[in-house]
Amino acid sequence: MYAIDLSGQNAVVFGVANQRSIAWSIARTLDEAGATLVLAYQNERLRSSVDKLVGGLNNEPLLVECDVSEDANVEAMFKQVETELGHVETVVHSIAFANRDDLGGRFVDTGRDGFRLALDISAYSLVPVVRYAAPLMSENGGSVLTLTFMASTKVFPGYNVMGTAKAALENEVRQLASDLGRDNIRVNAISAGPLDTLSSRAISNYRDMKRVHAERSPMGRNITHDEVANTALFLSSGMASGITGVVLHVDTGYHIMGI
Ligand SMILES: NC(=O)c1ccc[n+]([C@@H]2O[C@H](COP(=O)([O-])OP(=O)(O)OC[C@H]3O[C@@H](n4cnc5c(N)ncnc54)[C@H](O)[C@@H]3O)[C@@H](O)[C@H]2O)c1
Repeated sequence: MYAIDLSGQNAVVFGVANQRSIAWSIARTLDEAGATLVLAYQNERLRSSVDKLVGGLNNEPLLVECDVSEDANVEAMFKQVETELGHVETVVHSIAFANRDDLGGRFVDTGRDGFRLALDISAYSLVPVVRYAAPLMSENGGSVLTLTFMASTKVFPGYNVMGTAKAALENEVRQLASDLGRDNIRVNAISAGPLDTLSSRAISNYRDMKRVHAERSPMGRNITHDEVANTALFLSSGMASGITGVVLHVDTGYHIMGI
């Protein structure tokens, strides 16, 4: 039996907002595998909801506020992690944001400020996260994961500017994987099918997307939060030691279909 054991390892997880967050499913799974968590939440407003969630974890987590819109916040967060935990083996970047107005209607109407904001938070932020995490991974190497969606390559009306952001994010995954491979740091993305979360509900056509995925995917159903979390556990572990720069689809096969 090949059980995955992350005892003695530290995992920094960005993007827990509530119990439906994909980041929370991943965090719980990494904790169950023995990792000690750092939960990096966006702002004070989310602190109480994160506080309520962590009670059931096996290992006591470190909770740190980090708004990724400023590089200095990311740098300070990893400094604190270095002081308190010393090393990091896994980083999960599960963050996206766009103005609600830009997640519906016509893409051609996307304004410059909305475009800049969506790309800044949803794509650029992975770069400073990896820049400041990498030195803490230097001893044993490490694994970085981000969350993407198939709208990076195909048009999903309503997903709009977030599709552009996911295209940029997936390109970053390849460039960062190339930069850091010799340091034994792997960088990968999970392309998840639709899941009910705070963010997905802001997309105007989300319900249709979810229905069509279930109808047309080879497996004839939607994915679960646990399926994404288990894939994240695999990619975080030594079982995936030869995998970097990939976009791994966890979507019950939807992406292979032409119709
Ligand atoms: N839910 C889906 O159907 C689905 C499918 C594929 C990919 N994804 C991706 O998964 C990731 C997580 O989204 P989710 O669906 O769990 O929704 P969510 O709303 O629970 O998570 C989004 C997170 O981003 C954080 N965030 C936003 N702006 C931030 C900032 N400036 N600084 C720090 N954190 C910030 C929020 O606090 C929140 O925790 C996103 O990248 C999303 O695009 C989601």
